[in-house]
Amino acid sequence: MYGIDISPTAVSIAQKRCKSEKAACKLTLGNAAELNYPDDFFTFVFDRGCFHSIKPEHREKFIEGVHRVLKWNGKYFMSCFSWRNGDAWNHFTEKDIRRHFSAGFKILELKEDVFTMDVSGEKVYFYSVLMEAK
Ligand SMILES: C[S@@+](CC[C@H](N)C(=O)[O-])C[C@H]1O[C@@H](n2cnc3c(N)ncnc32)[C@H](O)[C@@H]1O
Repeated sequence: MYGIDISPTAVSIAQKRCKSEKAACKLTLGNAAELNYPDDFFTFVFDRGCFHSIKPEHREKFIEGVHRVLKWNGKYFMSCFSWRNGDAWNHFTEKDIRRHFSAGFKILELKEDVFTMDVSGEKVYFYSVLMEAK
């Protein structure tokens, strides 16, 4: 497995987790909008909360990078905040998601879900999207 995060703390937590799980991982401190992996390198990209953290002006570059590193027919799972949490720069509608991704990806499944925060009990709505690189 390969992983990237812009936060040293996140990379350090992931390193500890990989060690405890005895998983073979290559983790990189870096910007996911500037992926350095070769073309057609992965069969699967997992993104929980990264796309919605990318600044709007870097979104297209991020999406092009994910598409570039995936093999043709490779799968991309992405989860991001929903508009249902309120209006914000990184809260998306289903239409937004389709607009961003449909040029390079076939959307196989898109569903909205909710989880409840442990401590505050606050509900957080998000979309889970499974896509295939065209
Ligand atoms: C909502 S957290 C999700 C963390 C982890 N993926 C998980 O599921 O528990 C979003 C993560 O995206 C990282 N992030 C934000 N902008 C990034 C960027 N430009 N490149 C790489 N990682 C980024 C943050 O540091 C944070 O760890």
